[in-house]
Amino acid sequence: MIFLPFPPSWIQGLESTTGKVSMKRTILVTGANRGIGLATAALLGEHGHRVVLGARDLQAGEEAANSLCQKGFDVFALPIDLADMAQLNQSLNQLENQGVHVDVLINNAGVLDEVPLLQLTQNQIEAAIATHLTGPLHLIQALAPAMIARGYGRIVNLSSNWGSFAEGMGGPGLYGVSKAALNALTVRLAKELPSTVKVNAMCPGWVRTRMSNFHGTLLPEKAAETAFWLATLPEDGPTGGFFRNRRPLQW
Ligand SMILES: NC(=O)c1ccc[n+]([C@@H]2O[C@H](COP(=O)([O-])OP(=O)(O)OC[C@H]3O[C@@H](n4cnc5c(N)ncnc54)[C@H](OP(=O)(O)O)[C@@H]3O)[C@@H](O)[C@H]2O)c1
Repeated sequence: MIFLPFPPSWIQGLESTTGKVSMKRTILVTGANRGIGLATAALLGEHGHRVVLGARDLQAGEEAANSLCQKGFDVFALPIDLADMAQLNQSLNQLENQGVHVDVLINNAGVLDEVPLLQLTQNQIEAAIATHLTGPLHLIQALAPAMIARGYGRIVNLSSNWGSFAEGMGGPGLYGVSKAALNALTVRLAKELPSTVKVNAMCPGWVRTRMSNFHGTLLPEKAAETAFWLATLPEDGPTGGFFRNRRPLQW
């Protein structure tokens, strides 16, 4: 039996593909130079949204952005290294100076170390916490006030069932602990944000990207569908939830 904390009306169109958007939004996706982030950026671009393609390696970001621009999508690259606060602030200033208002933030970037907790180095710990917790929180602190002021915002946190207590916290230790922190951030933030700014977490499933050594069973395009759905939720959509394949997951 599936646990359904939300009305079924919020889980519409499970089998349907997404339609064309009525309102063009500006959507920042972190870690979007490859994998699920790139597939999400492509899906958003295909539906007419403007995508700010965050990448810690700007050259890789520009190459990815160019490949999407060639398809006619509205995309530009922005340097986003979640472990580098000075650079993050510089990039946020760049957006402000260019008059770019971010309506939707997709915290997609992720890092996975297959190292037992007792053997982790300080650098590995800091990288995971920066990528999954402090970096996303910094972006939220910077972008959410304007979302609140404009009366519209969506925040999507790419998490994992490996960060779910209910699902047993499987997988590498630091990955699960830091994704659990991202889950906690999602729950707590939903209590602080107005209902016009929705924040949700998702597990994309086991996806064929570099993170899974390309052993995942799902294509990044499939995972991107849930990110797209959460990024474009209607006014009466859920907030403070955790989803996989657009269905609620337990924390
Ligand atoms: N693949 C799966 O089966 C799976 C399952 C559950 C959850 N997820 C989650 O889904 C998200 C996307 O994963 P993916 O499979 O697409 O992984 P991926 O192909 O390995 O891509 C990870 C992305 O994150 C970026 N990144 C890593 N550390 C960063 C940092 N400090 N600052 C900015 N960007 C950083 C990488 O940049 P570089 O190219 O510069 O390294 C890359 O663009 C992650 O949050 C991951 O935890 C994935």
